[in-house]
Amino acid sequence: MSRESSLNQNEKAIGIFDSGIGGLTVMRQVANRLPQESIIYFGDTARVPYGEKSQETILRYCIENTLFLMEQQVKMIVVACNTGAAYSTETLRQMFNIPILDVIEPGIARVAEVTKNRRIAILATKATIRSQVYQRGVSEKIPGAQLFPLACPLFVPLVEERLFNHPATELIVKEYLAPLKDKQVDTVLLGCTHYPLIQSIIQREMGSHVMIVDSATTCAARVAASLADTNQLSSQSSGGSRQFYASDDPERFRAMGEVFFGSSIECRSSVS
Ligand code: DGL
Repeated sequence: MSRESSLNQNEKAIGIFDSGIGGLTVMRQVANRLPQESIIYFGDTARVPYGEKSQETILRYCIENTLFLMEQQVKMIVVACNTGAAYSTETLRQMFNIPILDVIEPGIARVAEVTKNRRIAILATKATIRSQVYQRGVSEKIPGAQLFPLACPLFVPLVEERLFNHPATELIVKEYLAPLKDKQVDTVLLGCTHYPLIQSIIQREMGSHVMIVDSATTCAARVAASLADTNQLSSQSSGGSRQFYASDDPERFRAMGEVFFGSSIECRSSVS
């Protein structure tokens, strides 16, 4: 019997995927919240970025990513890519007989908790903004909300280049956020996995009175609640394993991934 098939359901890993390394900001929170759980992360580095691609292509990629994680015998899938989730979560739930969580719903729930004046900016990739998934979700959850959706296509490459505290990033943030200046938003939702890495610049630009929300922490809480509700929490007393796969250049993923994940990692190629 293979190692995987001999695992009991509770000791199977949580599967997390993203278009690349960004979803490690989500994995980091899941790992902090559930240290005893094993986690397998897949970053689709061969095909990143998803944010500029069509709906059909993004959906196809997400189905393939889910199949890869299913082959690893995971007990749950977390779509830790906002763009991917915007176009695939519903279909994945219909296709696969396994709990599928994503980063979108937790982000919306967190916004609803923190906004007071219901004037909310949504920052995300072009594809996520085009999908209207956040606009619809926030409007349903917060009746009367005034929304200011903004696509910020240069944020992902700036983060990928690790220009976290760089004048170029400050300039682009200033430029992109300029339309928000007179909108009196009290909450900014970071609807993209990469944006938490430049949160301090966004915060400075918006002012300290504005709440910046990212979905990673709330998503981790959802993962924990879902596993508890379905009696699938690991009963291991020691820490779970952490495995990382990338569809291209695992070495680059490893080097970059340490910044996103916050500790050293090893990464294998998903292509055998
Ligand atoms: N992971 C994507 C997201 O959260 C950003 C990177 C990409 O465009 O693929 O939207």
